[in-house]
Amino acid sequence: MTPAPSTQKIGILTSGGDCPGLNAVIRAVIKCASRRGWEVYGIPYGTQGLINLKQGNCGAQDLRLRDHGFDIPGLLHGVDVLQFLSGSILGALNKGNPGDPQIAQEILDGYRRLGLDALIALGGDGSLDIIDDLANQGGWNWIAIPKTIDNDVPFTERSLGFDTAVSTVTRALYDLTFTAASHSRIIVVQVMGRDAGHLALQAGIAGGADVILIPELTPKLDDRTLDGICQQIVQLRQGDRQFALVVIAEGVRNPAGDKEKYIGDRLAAQIQQHGTRLCQTGQPEFCYLEALETRATTLGHIQRSSPPSSFDRLMATAFGKKAVDLIAEQSYQQLVVWSQGQVDSKPLSRVMPLIKARHQAHLCPRPVTPSNPWVQTARDLGIYLGHPMTVSDAQASPGRDQGHTVCP
Ligand code: F6P
Repeated sequence: MTPAPSTQKIGILTSGGDCPGLNAVIRAVIKCASRRGWEVYGIPYGTQGLINLKQGNCGAQDLRLRDHGFDIPGLLHGVDVLQFLSGSILGALNKGNPGDPQIAQEILDGYRRLGLDALIALGGDGSLDIIDDLANQGGWNWIAIPKTIDNDVPFTERSLGFDTAVSTVTRALYDLTFTAASHSRIIVVQVMGRDAGHLALQAGIAGGADVILIPELTPKLDDRTLDGICQQIVQLRQGDRQFALVVIAEGVRNPAGDKEKYIGDRLAAQIQQHGTRLCQTGQPEFCYLEALETRATTLGHIQRSSPPSSFDRLMATAFGKKAVDLIAEQSYQQLVVWSQGQVDSKPLSRVMPLIKARHQAHLCPRPVTPSNPWVQTARDLGIYLGHPMTVSDAQASPGRDQGHTVCP
């Protein structure tokens, strides 16, 4: 294979929801590429930045990223501040429809104006799907880096930002424990994750939740789920534990089977109503459900912030270096992955068909599978994960594995 040209012009963009660690990847790419004598161009706001280029709103030199410019006088020089800055200095884009041929053409024209040898794109499953289509149309050499607090990009054990988000939600559960205990309340905490339950499951276990509802195991709220939650509360109160923490992933649907923006609020109200109904039956054990007080907290976008954890900073650095190494080897169209505790890569020719197939079937590309070790861990801790699903439930579940091979 002929060696890569000495001077490479590489672009980098961040697309989709932001997350901690993006800037740490950018920093690693700038440092590793600069040491090779390459030029790095930061494309602002994902594919929108390429449209701006096409429309002449900015020039290539405006996008140049050098190992300086973010000076905090006397403290940090150059891009090093990016190691701990949340968000993306490039901006991100979580909307738009490059499926529109006219928009796609503007993006392709903008990319051509930059004259890049290769592109590094950080994205979740949705963004990577879109960029893959554009790269195929435009003949781009590109490297994909998985980032999302949902941790639902297949073929990688971890996506960037997930580790930090688990700590952020865990800390929120710690904070809510004390107010719940002080008022003997049932506090419902709504967690992000789109259609995946990884964040809710792992942070719920770490944060001491008594109930964890995720779409893969509890596709929608129903009376059987409410019975199970109330039974869990009864058992806690029989053991003189007056409060409970209930974690619900945002992908769990309402009783009608529809997504609801504040499903946590609905669940809190339904627990209170259901508990009152059971208490009124007069069955002895249900007396523990008397005067149930519930509250709900939707954590929202704080789950996308916090300084990146040390693990996310390490993985971001490894991801950035790997992306530059792959470009140096001219090994393009690769997904950088985290596998068995180290960085690796998978050809997009293997990754993208699965992502596209799952998207077309409106399924999560990497759901929590029943064999996921954390599911059994939660069960063995006595955490209520929803009622056992019947076959019909499973087939209706938006996240369930339909025979595709996904990593645990
Ligand atoms: O994909 C990451 C994510 O945070 C999801 O968990 C969440 O549903 C979504 O992005 C929110 O998107 P937005 O920032 O556009 O509201």
